[in-house]
Amino acid sequence: MTTQAHATGRRAVKAVIPAAGLATRFLPATKAVPKELLPVVDRPVLQYIVEEAAAAGITDVLLVTGRGKTSMVDHFDRRPDVEARLEEKGDKARLAAVRRTSELADIYTCRQGEPLGLGHAVGVAASHIGDNAFAVLLGDEFVDEEQPLLPAMLELQARTGGIVLAFIEVAPEETGRYGIASVKPSEFGEDIVEVTGLVEKPSAAEAPSNLAVVGRYILPATIFEAINNTKPGSGGEIQLTDAMAQLLADGTPVHGIVYRGHRYDTGMPLGYLQAVVEIAVKRPDLGAEFGQWLSEFVAKQAKNAGGAQG
Ligand code: UTP
Repeated sequence: MTTQAHATGRRAVKAVIPAAGLATRFLPATKAVPKELLPVVDRPVLQYIVEEAAAAGITDVLLVTGRGKTSMVDHFDRRPDVEARLEEKGDKARLAAVRRTSELADIYTCRQGEPLGLGHAVGVAASHIGDNAFAVLLGDEFVDEEQPLLPAMLELQARTGGIVLAFIEVAPEETGRYGIASVKPSEFGEDIVEVTGLVEKPSAAEAPSNLAVVGRYILPATIFEAINNTKPGSGGEIQLTDAMAQLLADGTPVHGIVYRGHRYDTGMPLGYLQAVVEIAVKRPDLGAEFGQWLSEFVAKQAKNAGGAQG
């Protein structure tokens, strides 16, 4: 079938956030605290992600949770006791911030009994999603709210049908950390490519391009059958990439948008620390003071390093 035959003209309206993984790259912090709840300044990572979905007009959000991760759902509940205390104190700003978390979206949950892989986690969303295309937002990364990515992905998918991916350009030494796409130009505009293949974590020499798949996907409901037919792959996990490759092989159109904005990857300590610092510096209430401290700190470190060398 052609791209046109897959197009629906309708934007996806539901999102799935797979957040049932073990977060081994962030242990021991993540033994008892889900990495999706680690704070970036004063909001958990997961809230930035739900805000990203809501800002794109998606307010039906399914959280895929697992063992030890129920606290993620509590974050989106009302807290009348906390609200009453803030009201008494007259702390209107924090009161609004606390209330906002329960008003952002309709949060639904389902369980992934065992963390058998990202593909498997998406698969447990099947009955909630039904027959329409939907968005998948990984639970440990988000983009700068001033440079949104999802709206363009949703619009493109309504035009092309099939799968829409998001890419960032990576340096050759980084290809081994990502899924890398082989692509050709598309008729849909600059920074939009047609995907002809996907390779999981290739070396620089084997990488077919410098376009790395990041954690935002718009998928058709046919992905569920493909997931059911997917055998455990790399790491013994049921990989979403393998299920998408089946659809691609069967003629489902796959397009990708090259994202040139800023993305925060909080799945590992280094990316997490960078996100905290960058967002803190941008905050109107904290940025000036924190930025001042940070530059003094960096200058002091440089001086100490210079002294140690001299
Ligand atoms: P990651 O591979 O980054 O998460 O999956 P992980 O497995 O928890 O982390 P590491 O690699 O061990 O450090 C991306 C997203 O998919 C979810 C994770 O929670 C994360 O938000 N995921 C992953 C699931 O929901 N279930 C799984 O079986 C695997």
